[in-house]
Order: sequence, then C-alpha cells, then structure tokens
Amino acid sequence: MAGLARHVDPDGLMKKLSDSPGQRHRACTNQAISHSTPYSSRYASASELSKFRIPHDGAPAEAVHQLVKDELDLDGSPNLNLSSFVGTYMEHEAEQLLMENISKNMADADEYPAMTNIHARCISILVHLWGVQKGETAIGSDTTGSLEAVHLGGLAMKRRWQEKRDAEGKDKSKPNIIMGANAQVTLEKFARYFEVEARLLPVSAESHYQLDPDLVRDKIDKNTIGVFVILGFTYTGHFKPVEEISKILDAYEKRTGVDIPIHVDAASGGFIAPFTHAKAGGSKWNIELPRIIWRDESYLPKHLIFELHYPGGTEQSYTLNFSRPGAHVIAQYFNLIHLGFTGYRIIMENALANARLLSRSLETTGWYECISDIHRKKGDHNYVKGREQYEGSTSADYNAALPVVTFYLSKDFRRKCPHVKQVSINNLLRARQYIVPSYALPPNEDKTEILRDETVMDTDLTDILAWQPGTVSIEKEQASAGEQHKNRHKTKHPMSKGIHRSVY
Ligand SMILES: Cc1ncc(COP(=O)(O)O)c(C=O)c1O
Repeated sequence: MAGLARHVDPDGLMKKLSDSPGQRHRACTNQAISHSTPYSSRYASASELSKFRIPHDGAPAEAVHQLVKDELDLDGSPNLNLSSFVGTYMEHEAEQLLMENISKNMADADEYPAMTNIHARCISILVHLWGVQKGETAIGSDTTGSLEAVHLGGLAMKRRWQEKRDAEGKDKSKPNIIMGANAQVTLEKFARYFEVEARLLPVSAESHYQLDPDLVRDKIDKNTIGVFVILGFTYTGHFKPVEEISKILDAYEKRTGVDIPIHVDAASGGFIAPFTHAKAGGSKWNIELPRIIWRDESYLPKHLIFELHYPGGTEQSYTLNFSRPGAHVIAQYFNLIHLGFTGYRIIMENALANARLLSRSLETTGWYECISDIHRKKGDHNYVKGREQYEGSTSADYNAALPVVTFYLSKDFRRKCPHVKQVSINNLLRARQYIVPSYALPPNEDKTEILRDETVMDTDLTDILAWQPGTVSIEKEQASAGEQHKNRHKTKHPMSKGIHRSVY
C-alpha cells in the first residue's frame, strides 16, 4: 500500500468502496464485548478502527493485539535480516529480564540504584575489555545506539579543540573532522548537526577500502578537532589501521604541537575484535593508545558534564538523551556475565568460520568474487581466479575483519551473462525472505556494486543453497521479466545514481 498511496488515497478508497458506506458512522466499537475480534473490525464490518486518528472508543486488548500482530507480518524477519549489523537473538532468560525491567528509566538513578550499579559494572567490564591502563580513569555511559556514542565523542573532541583555541587566543570558527568517504551516515550527521566541516577521504581497492593513512597525513591541520576511525567498515567489514593513524598524529604533534584525538567508531568491531584470535589485525586499536578519546576522564571537557543531584547522591551525566530504557543495560549485563570471555570468543569465532565458509562457497561456484577478505590468508587481500581456497585453523590465520561477506558477480559470469543484473540476486534472496543489501561502494569505487551479508546464520545446507541461484537460474528470471534483448546491456542498476550512503 505504501507505494500505491503515492498515487491514490487508500483510506478514501476504502471508505468509498466498503459495504454500506452510509452506515459507517454508526460503527460499533463502542463495547468491549467478548465476541469482538480483529476479524470483525477494520474494513470488513460495521465497526471501524481509525488508523491515523485516535479512535473515539477503544477496542478490546486481545483484538488490538491480533490486529497489530497481523499488520507486522508484513515486516521482514529479524533473523533473516543480514543487512543491519546486529545480532538479534537473545536467550530466554535475557528476554525475561528485559520484560521484568521494561518500565525502568535509566535516568532515574535515585529510584533504581541497583540498575545504576549494574550500569557502572558494564562500563567497568567494557573498559577493561578495551585495554584500560593502570592509573587512568576510563569513562563511559550507556547510549541509545552508536549514533549517540559518535555524537558524544565528536562533541567532546570539538569542545576540547575550542577550549585550546580559546586559551591560545586563536580563531575557532572553522573546525574540521577527518573520516573516510565510507563513513557510516551517523558520522556525517555529526558533522552537519554540530557544524564541523567533514573532510571525507576517498577509500580505494589499494587502501583495502580502509581510511588511507597517507591521505590523513595530508588533510589534517590546526583546525582538525579529531579523526573518526571505523573499526569494521560498513561496506566490507574491514578494520581500519587505528594504530597507524595514531602514529601519524603523534608525528604531527611532535612537529606542530597540535594534539589531535581519535574517536574509534567500534559500533560493530568493538564487540568482535576483543574476542577473536585475529583481534583487530594485530595492532592496537583500543584505549591502550594514548590518543583514543574516553581512555581517561581528562578527555571529557568539564563543561559537558551535567551533575544531577538527588537525595541519595550526585550523578554525573554525559548523554544526549535523558529518559531512556534501562532494561537493555540489564540485558547487556546478563550477556556479559552469562557468556563470559570464552562464550563470546566461541560465538565470534563461529560467526567468522561461517562467513569464511560462505565466502569460499560463493567463490567456488565461479559466479561470485568476494571483496571481503576474511577467508584469505593473512596478508592476501585479493581474489585470484583458480587459486585454491586457503584453510587455516583459527581467525588468527586470516585477515582480521567483521564476519561480513561482500561480493559481486564475477567478471567471468558478467562476461557470459551481461544481461543479468546483480540486483536480481538481492531480489531472489528476498523471495526466500533473506534481506541482503545491494549498493555501490563509496565515491571513487562506486562503479563497483556489491551485495553484503553479515553472517551469523548457521552453516546448514539450505542456507548455502539460498545463495546459489543456479537451479532456476537468474538468467531465466531475467528473461521472464520480458526484457528486450536489444535493451539488456543498457539496464541500469537503480542504485547507480544519486546519493547512497551506507546506513548500516
Ligand atoms: C560503523 C557504524 N557506526 C555507527 C552506526 C550507527 O549505529 P546505531 O544504529 O546503533 O546508532 C553503525 C550502524 O550499523 C555502524 O555500522
């Protein structure tokens, strides 16, 4: 209906075309009677539940529950959504804790002291996981998603820079921030909302789709408030060379006296790199590095901290939100305590092993080549036709990255079947309910269109089969779409035009 609604007024049509429109005013949602069910309400009967305005009278809870549940059947299944970088599975006990605490507000520290303690424990666990150094006071806060974390990091870097420029009596009207052109959309959003020039550095196949340290060296200056470095590039899962960039900033500081911090956007990698054998490519990426923001409270300008006084004490707050759910913090604590380091390691190694299996299977068909390189021997980044697939033992033997598989139709396949559009794979998978995004790589490499899958699925055969369009054949699918032969080569991918930033 959403597409149709652009051309017609569906509600107006429903009203006009339903049985006995004249009777509609006498709609009978007035009594919460037991034989009222969703199937005796919307559209089909005399009772009417309005969708866009609050109904005059309500309806029985079980009827509304069923009605909403039915509508939500149109959504994809989160378990088959391989598009967003999130695992959605939670154990029953975690779900139970979520439900038991769903009404608690994280902002009410005085009212919920036990939950506030659990929040503090989560921060302590995480900063230790991320390499807190002896004698330093790493800080943290729960956030509603990584966007808030990115914006808080950016804001602290901006304020720190402004305070230094103020103290030196220097101009502070032109702050800039460095990030790769592959940056997730929330990073650019920070720059736009907080009025900082975004210096987007192109990424390329040569830089393995990572932020290029040489370009960082060229683009930083005295007005650079910081560098956003993504640990787990959204398009291909690659980890960026955080330590290498940190060293460039060290050298710059030595030369100019200007100290530029780094915010590591570890939205996806922060919970993978600490656990896998591959870590984050061997080098340091976390708060062991001196210029990583949040490693010590001295990085957080005092002016940004709000002190909230309540009868039981004082809470220091550095968040964009005030009220926010607390149940998720409790569920996070459950996971940390329940799984422990070993549990997380097993899950992450397993996800990487599955992703390697899928990558090898895709390449072995000859239909696809992978841009992601987690299945290649450490140091080998590129697909070489006919080369035997490498088999190591743990993730330490392979290139380190997220368990993400990014692939496209192989050159051989495209030569043989030039009329087949890559987006067909995405459509065929969608027909099997898998959601796999299809888009172009960031500017500079945007002629390359990719399909990307975040792999947490199990290794069973049906999953692997879903990726092989060979049985019915995508050629047949295209042919049956009635494409004229003469037009086949002209077919344009819908995403090849316009702005398309990676959002997950
Ligand atoms: C690298 C990166 N940064 C930031 C975000 C935004 O995260 P959230 O949706 O939790 O705000 C994402 C989301 O996938 C991401 O992959």
